[in-house]
Amino acid sequence: MNFDLKTLTHSTALTHKTDLMVIAVKSGVQKATTSKSSPIPVLSQYLSSIQAEESFEAKTGKTLLILKPLHVQAKRIMLLGVGDGSAAQIRKAVNTCFSSIKSLKYKEVTVYFDDSFTEFDKAIRNSIIAVTDSLYLYTKTKPSAKTEHSKTSKNPDSSSSAGLISVTLAGASAKLVSSKNVFDEVTALCEGVELAKEWGNRPPNYATPTHLGQVAQNLGKTSGIKVNVMGPKEVEKLGMGSFMSVSQGSSEPLRFISMEYRGARAKTSEPIVLIGKGITFDTGGISLKPGAGMDEMKFDMCGAASVLGVFKSLSVLKPADLHVVGLIPTCENMPDGGAVKPGDVVTSMSGQTIEILNTDAEGRLILCDALTYAKRFKPKAVIDIATLTGACVIALGHVRSGLFSNNDTLASALEKAGEDSLDTCWRMPLDDEYAEALKSNFADVANVGDRAAGSVTAAKFLQRFANDFAWAHLDIAGTAWKSGGAKGSTGRPVGLLMEFLLRHSKNAMKPKSAK
Ligand code: BES
Ligand code: MN
Ligand code: ZN
Repeated sequence: MNFDLKTLTHSTALTHKTDLMVIAVKSGVQKATTSKSSPIPVLSQYLSSIQAEESFEAKTGKTLLILKPLHVQAKRIMLLGVGDGSAAQIRKAVNTCFSSIKSLKYKEVTVYFDDSFTEFDKAIRNSIIAVTDSLYLYTKTKPSAKTEHSKTSKNPDSSSSAGLISVTLAGASAKLVSSKNVFDEVTALCEGVELAKEWGNRPPNYATPTHLGQVAQNLGKTSGIKVNVMGPKEVEKLGMGSFMSVSQGSSEPLRFISMEYRGARAKTSEPIVLIGKGITFDTGGISLKPGAGMDEMKFDMCGAASVLGVFKSLSVLKPADLHVVGLIPTCENMPDGGAVKPGDVVTSMSGQTIEILNTDAEGRLILCDALTYAKRFKPKAVIDIATLTGACVIALGHVRSGLFSNNDTLASALEKAGEDSLDTCWRMPLDDEYAEALKSNFADVANVGDRAAGSVTAAKFLQRFANDFAWAHLDIAGTAWKSGGAKGSTGRPVGLLMEFLLRHSKNAMKPKSAK
């Protein structure tokens, strides 16, 4: 998709040529647009009359299509209600709008925000995010989706001409100037979100650890990102006994991916390390999961996909001041004759021994070795992202990701980044009492507690490996994908992470003394 920014005033908007002009309308502002002291706002006068005539209410996502509008060059006009005009309402409205028009014959669509939108940057940002989201189409193993799409577009031409090619965001000139940066940033963000979605969605036989390694290698080829992909031999040498135990029932070889982005002005700074859980399929292992809905455990690598997405965005945007390391332990969790068994004790890279009481609690087993590995970068902060527990879905549903942290500064920065990007999280507790559940008679720690506070005990397990740095853990089990008719990856939390990196990671996070 091509995005463009254009300066259009109330009068030049009338002569702007476009297939469809979507005009965002806030509720309750249509009557008061003409003023005698300012130049006549021609478009708004025109719109007021339409709204009055059609009694159009600007409820979020409500539309009114004008087929052959008078006085304007646009072939069609669509009024789009955006409620109170907040970021969230704009995103929702534009999403609804583009989901409904994507099968129509428009090639170029302009979205217009008039002067009543004082936060033009926000309007642009959320429109672009919403357009990209609603136009995403999964085709890798369903090429027919593309053909269906072009059929419904009623466009007899070749498939390449079907569908939307370009979207113009338009508004008054003064505000557009400051929007250039926002524009570059959000288009880069969207590329990252799309990559995360795409790899999240790919079937487990099309998104193996080897494939994820190749995605990283490709990012390295086309940008300044340093990439290193390790296999079983190197991982064994590192002593990652916990990670290896998860992989041992699978015939797909594991990978440990490491990526490093260093901006032009970040030569000496300590990095922020992102760690993504990359279980490309989670059967539960010998502690086998029930069959119903097990296919959704292909999404158990969405943490990894979000880290790949962030690096895609960084490679496009190239922010000068950032230094970011991405680590992805990735493997399958399968049962077979050689698989790890409940009761087995493994030795992690940190030297701590772990009694594996449930082979389905595998995410923490691969993450703990990555956390230990992260220490060598002397990180400013380490954030792991994981579809870690069903318990987190019970606690927070599909709205907010779970946030756990040993550092209040880091936690507030992530909370703020979540609010600002509409990719929200909610902080959960880490009281030491929760660690009681992980006691073992046969190892330093057990990999599961009882059912109570399952997302917290999982985080308590991870915390044991994160005592040397500021650390946060995002449990995205409820937010990384949607089930049912809309089954598919959401691309979360790439938005939160990019917002954090670009605007909230400035303050050094001091390690808090070990608990
Ligand atoms: N990948 C799952 C977590 C999960 C389950 C995410 C369902 C989203 C939906 C994870 O590896 C897992 O199986 N966790 C277990 C932990 C339990 C054995 C302590 C769980 O949540 O049931
Ligand atoms: Mn599991
Ligand atoms: Zn899992």
